[in-house]
Amino acid sequence: MVLRPGLEGVPVTQSSICQINGNEGHLRYRGYAIDELAARSSFLETTYLLIWGNLPNPDELRNFEKEVQMHRRLSFRVRDMMKCFPESGHPMDALQSSAASLGLFYSRRAIDDPQYVYDAVVRLIAKIPTMVAAFQLIRKGQDPIQPRDNLPYSSNFLYMLTEQEPDPLAARVLDRCLILHAEHSLNASTFSARVTASTLTDPYAVIASAVGTLAGPLHGGANEDVIAMLEEIKTPDQAGPYLDNAIKNKSKIMGFGHREYKVKDPRATLLQEFAEELFARFGKDEMYDVAKAVEAEATTRLGPKGIFPNVDFYSGLVYRKLGIPKDLFTPIFAISRVAGWLAHWREQLSANRIFRPTQIYTGEEKRTWIPLDERS
Ligand code: CMC
Repeated sequence: MVLRPGLEGVPVTQSSICQINGNEGHLRYRGYAIDELAARSSFLETTYLLIWGNLPNPDELRNFEKEVQMHRRLSFRVRDMMKCFPESGHPMDALQSSAASLGLFYSRRAIDDPQYVYDAVVRLIAKIPTMVAAFQLIRKGQDPIQPRDNLPYSSNFLYMLTEQEPDPLAARVLDRCLILHAEHSLNASTFSARVTASTLTDPYAVIASAVGTLAGPLHGGANEDVIAMLEEIKTPDQAGPYLDNAIKNKSKIMGFGHREYKVKDPRATLLQEFAEELFARFGKDEMYDVAKAVEAEATTRLGPKGIFPNVDFYSGLVYRKLGIPKDLFTPIFAISRVAGWLAHWREQLSANRIFRPTQIYTGEEKRTWIPLDERS
C-alpha cells in the first residue's frame, strides 16, 4: 500500500462542476471561464449554473431569484438561539452551528425527492448570508434586521450587515467576489461536504461540516490572517525582511501557495483588479502598497517553487474597503462556497458510494492489560 498524505494527486471522484488548469492559471465553472462569469454573470445566476449544470433561461433565473428572496428570513427560534452564542465567539463557529440547526426545522425525508433538494438549495443559499449578518449585529448587542425584499442578493447582504443601503459599485464588487469564491473542485471543505453527503445525511449537516472545514487557517481562514500579516509588516520596505525571517523559520506566508496552482491564482488577479476599482472610487487602503511589496518580494523568493498569491491574498483588502470586519472574511467565503458545496452534494448523490478509505496501521500489535493499581 502506498501512503498519500493529504491525498495529493489521488482522484477520489469524477466531477463535471469545475475545471482547474494549475499550470496556466485557468479556472472554469461548468465550462465557463471565471473571468467571463465575474464580468457578465451574477452570483445567483452562477449558483444556478453550478448546482443545476446549465445557465438558467430568463424565467428560470427570475424564479430562482424570487424563491431565494422569499426564504431569506430566519425563524425567530434561530435568531434567539444565536442570541445565546457568546459574542466573543468566532463568526465561523456561529455560522456552523446556525447552519446545522436548520436540520432541526426541515425534515430528513427523501433526499432523492427533487422538490426536497430544490427547497434545501434555496433555503441554504437564502439563509446563510442572513445568519452571517444576524450574528454581526447580535454580537454588537443589537437585534438583527430583516432582509429587504427590494434589494438583490449582495446589496441585501451588505444592507443587513451595515444597516445602510450600499453603494451600487460596492454591491457589484461583492457579488463578483462571491462568483469567484463559489467553487473550486475538491478542496478540503468540498471534500468534507462530499464525505458527509456520502453517508446520505441531510444537506444542512453537509453544509455545516463544510463550514467547519473551511474555517481553518490553511483553507478559508487564510484571508483573515493575510490582513493580520500585512498589519504586522506595516510598511513596504519591511516586506523583504519579514519574508526572509518567515522563510528562515519555515513559517507559511498566508495567502500564498496552492496545491493546484503553480502560477498566480487567476482569482487573485481578478480580486486585485476589484481592489483597485474600489480604491479608485473610495480611496486607497494603505496596506495595498504593503501587499504589492509582499507579492514582489515573495515572488523572487518562492516563485521558483511555484508559490504565488492565492485567492485569499487580495480578498481581505477588497472586503476591508467594503467596511467588512476581518473576522467576517471567511464567513463571506462560506456564503459563496455554499453554491459549490451544494453542487457537489447533488453530484455525490447522483453516483453515491460511502467514503471509507483505509490506513496503514503503525500502533502496537498486541498488549497485555495491566490493572489500574499495578500501573506506575
Ligand atoms: N509560504 C511559504 N512556503 C510555502 C507556502 C507558503 N504560503 N506554501 C507552501 N510552501 C512551501 C512549503 O514550506 C513546502 O516547502 P518544502 O518542500 O521546502 O518543505 C512546499 O512549499 C510545499 O508545501 P505544502 O504545505 O506541502 O503544500 P500543500 O500543497 O500541502 O499546501 C497550502 C497548500 C495552501 C496549504 C499551502 O500553500 C499553505 O499553507 N499556504 C498558506 C495558507 C493559505 O494561504 N491558504 C489558502 C489556500 S487557497 C484558498 C483556500 O483553499 O481556502
